[in-house]
Amino acid sequence: MSMRMLLPTSFAVCETSGDIPAALPEFESVVTTSAQAARRAEFATGRWCARRALGDLDPAAAHQAVPVGDDRAPVWPPDVVGSITHCTGLRSAVVARRRDVVAVGVDAEPARPLPLDAVEVILRTNERQYAESALSTVVFTVKEALFKAWWPLTRTWLDFQQARVTLGDGTADVDVLTAHPDWPTGRAQVRWSMHDGLIRTAVWIPAEP
Ligand SMILES: CC(C)(COP(=O)(O)OP(=O)(O)OC[C@H]1O[C@@H](n2cnc3c(N)ncnc32)[C@H](O)[C@@H]1OP(=O)(O)O)[C@@H](O)C(=O)NCCC(=O)NCCS
Repeated sequence: MSMRMLLPTSFAVCETSGDIPAALPEFESVVTTSAQAARRAEFATGRWCARRALGDLDPAAAHQAVPVGDDRAPVWPPDVVGSITHCTGLRSAVVARRRDVVAVGVDAEPARPLPLDAVEVILRTNERQYAESALSTVVFTVKEALFKAWWPLTRTWLDFQQARVTLGDGTADVDVLTAHPDWPTGRAQVRWSMHDGLIRTAVWIPAEP
C-alpha cells in the first residue's frame, strides 16, 4: 500500500518507511538547525521524498529546494502543487502539475482510535459514531489533509468543527461549512486506506476539464 494507490496518475508519489540520511540543501537546513535530531531527520526525509517525487514529474526538478514558508507550509515550484506527511513508520510526499491539480493535502497516522479528549474537539456530531474505532482517526486525517489543501488556496484558518466528513469505503465526502472565494466548494476528492497499522489519506481538487 502507498499513497500511489490512492491518487490518480497525474500525481508523482515518493514514500519511505524510515529516515534517509539525506543531506539537505543549505537553503532548507538553515531553518532546521535548532530542531531535535528526530525532527531534523523526519524533515530531511520528507524533503528527500519531495525531490524524488518532483524528479518523477520533471527530471530537471530532481534537485530543487523546497523551502519552508513563513506559515510552515512547503514552498513548491510555481507550476507544482504538493504535500508532505510523516508519522511513525511513514514519510510521504506527493506532487502534481498545477495544470492538472488545484490543491492537494496528504496525511498519515497510526491506525488506532483518537484519544477521548480529542474526540470532542475534532469530531462533529455525525462523526462521533466512529469515536471508539480507528475510523475516528481516519476522520482526523481527512480533516488534516483537507487543511493542507485548503491553506495554500485561502491562507485562512479552518477549525476541525468547520468540516463535516462522511466516510465511505476508502472514500469520503467532505463539506467545508464556511465559504471562501478561493475554495472550489464541492470539488474535493478524498481517498483513504488502512493497511498494516497505518492510515493514509489524500484530499485533492482536480483542475476543471
Ligand atoms: C499543519 C498540520 C495539518 C500538519 O499536520 P500534522 O499531522 O501535524 O503533521 P504531518 O506530518 O502530517 O504534516 C506536516 C507537514 O505538513 C506541511 N505543512 C505544515 N503547515 C502547512 C500548511 N499551513 N499548509 C500546508 N501544509 C503544511 C509541512 O510540509 C509539514 O512537514 P515539514 O514541516 O517537515 O515540511 C497540523 O499541524 C495542524 O496545524 N492542524 C490544525 C489545522 C487543521 O488541521 N484543521 C482542520 C480543518 S478541518
